[in-house]
Amino acid sequence: MVYQGSKNRLAKFLVPIIQKYIDDNNITTYIEPMVGGANLIDKIKCDKKIGADINEELIALLKYAQSDNDLSIAPDVCTFEHYANVREDRKLGTHKYSKEYIALIGYCASYGGRYFDGGYGRDSKGGRSIYNERLKNFRTQIPDLNDIEFRCCDYKDFADYKNCLFYFDPPYRNTKQYSKQSIDYDEFYDFLRKLSENNIVLVSEYNMPDDFKCIWQKERKVLQKSDRVTGEKAVEKLFEIRE
Ligand SMILES: C[S@@+](CC[C@H](N)C(=O)[O-])C[C@H]1O[C@@H](n2cnc3c(N)ncnc32)[C@H](O)[C@@H]1O
Repeated sequence: MVYQGSKNRLAKFLVPIIQKYIDDNNITTYIEPMVGGANLIDKIKCDKKIGADINEELIALLKYAQSDNDLSIAPDVCTFEHYANVREDRKLGTHKYSKEYIALIGYCASYGGRYFDGGYGRDSKGGRSIYNERLKNFRTQIPDLNDIEFRCCDYKDFADYKNCLFYFDPPYRNTKQYSKQSIDYDEFYDFLRKLSENNIVLVSEYNMPDDFKCIWQKERKVLQKSDRVTGEKAVEKLFEIRE
């Protein structure tokens, strides 16, 4: 699913690395506590996979997709007027639409995976429907979501887990935050250190404290300026925490 900070494009690099950790260490449970659009976990092979996120509407949609792989609630067309109605319903809490429906419209019809704060996604030349393209892509992804257990919770709820492989893909420090939550990064680093005493812990970020070892990196262009055009270079990294 299109998602802010999606790892879809980097999956071809990250998945083989993570998969090797799983296979070499006979890991039977893989957990992504910040699963977002599930664009990496959907390519991982493991006996048990848990994808969690603090975003309730997102998790409602991912669970709904498992129960209705065709996404039959999805309208054939999503006009700007309909998008604005759903956005208003969400803002006012009038509950005309379900959480999964709000998420479906928010992710598929907004600009650049930015959910409702990105505005309605329009094709500048007018020929394409952003909504229909996204919906089609999401429908293609759904069969790969069926073996994942989705949960809505905070990453800290996994504190007591043991013998698992955790992959964290947090909102990157010093970049645009997601609407609902902000992370206390020092607390997050301490949590990862503690978790790594009993688990393998991998994290994507641009920078981490010195005791986190960078095991992979790649330069990439990020488009995150409000003018939606300016490209900046950033170095994507994957870290392992070793106690
Ligand atoms: C960069 S996105 C993950 C993108 C995902 N890897 C993908 O490819 O689609 C970061 C996610 O962290 C979630 N998040 C932020 N704070 C959280 C918290 N305290 N507990 C759990 N999830 C959190 C956000 O809701 C967001 O979905």
